[in-house]
Amino acid sequence: MPDVMVDSFGRKVTGLRIALTPRCNLRCIYCHHEGEVKPVREISLEMAASVAHAAADLGVRSLKITGGEPLLRMDLADLISQMPRNLDISLTTNGILLAEQAGSLAKAGLDRVNVSLDSLRPKIYRAITGGKAGDLERVLAGIDAASIAGLGPIKLNVVVLKENEAEIPHMIEFCRERGLILQLIELLDLQGLGLSGNIEEIERRLAARADSVRIREMHRRKKYFLDGAEVEVVRPMDNTEFCANCTRLRVTSDGKIKPCLLRSDNLIDIGTCDRGGIRELLIEANQRREPFFGKDRPKRERADAAGSAAK
Ligand code: 5AD
Ligand code: SF4
Repeated sequence: MPDVMVDSFGRKVTGLRIALTPRCNLRCIYCHHEGEVKPVREISLEMAASVAHAAADLGVRSLKITGGEPLLRMDLADLISQMPRNLDISLTTNGILLAEQAGSLAKAGLDRVNVSLDSLRPKIYRAITGGKAGDLERVLAGIDAASIAGLGPIKLNVVVLKENEAEIPHMIEFCRERGLILQLIELLDLQGLGLSGNIEEIERRLAARADSVRIREMHRRKKYFLDGAEVEVVRPMDNTEFCANCTRLRVTSDGKIKPCLLRSDNLIDIGTCDRGGIRELLIEANQRREPFFGKDRPKRERADAAGSAAK
């Protein structure tokens, strides 16, 4: 029987990303709000759990919980405890509220966290996160608490910006010392803000220094190993290879299935569907998947950084 979760480009859906809220306690200068446009209602715990179960029945293996800031959902631990046990469940958070919640989330069944942290310098961190709520100390305490709660391997998400590109070597050191995985993310500069750092040059340097390079199945992301540090590079922009290897479906915080981060014209409203109905909608959403950077938006010219470095 053909796999209903393989799309017409041969891409299988293995991961689901659910945004639980559009709300956030930070105001990052570049935030793309997970590609959401003016959400009006917040997905219920029951609906989020039903989507996860329907997806797991269709062969999805991993669930990422996002926002906005998902730790603002007061029912988060309950929600996690109702998720299918056979999913690898991770959470992307800005870490501000993580110290208080790490223990209870781990108990509820959360496996891992990704913490967004764009600078280790308090002033720059505040500037990037848009004001006084951006308290670096709280995020660092959150990372420690997550580590103690066993929510690892913890990933540190860093969007490469002009403000932080000089800090990357320090961040590699920081992650190596604590056993964190560093994830360097290319800015999706959807509003043309011109804030992007030079991730291409950073990747070239990583490639030149790496002991080894591994290519992950999802998005064909490259992972560099340097003297015990693990650095993953996420470069979606104009990257046909990234899109050709996309294995995700998303659910927006107002309960719509979203086949592509970069499009909002092909969403499917879950409405009041039950688990059986949601199954059909997930299959339909998969049929609507197509690579955003594909034959109509061809790959830009770029040096293959790993090519020269795979030792
Ligand atoms: N470009 C790249 N990453 C972004 N994020 C939010 N907005 C953008 C953007 N415009 C990141 C956050 C977080 C992850 C969930 O998405 O920093 O790490
Ligand atoms: Fe956006 Fe995340 Fe920053 Fe909140 S913490 S403003 S959701 S990027």
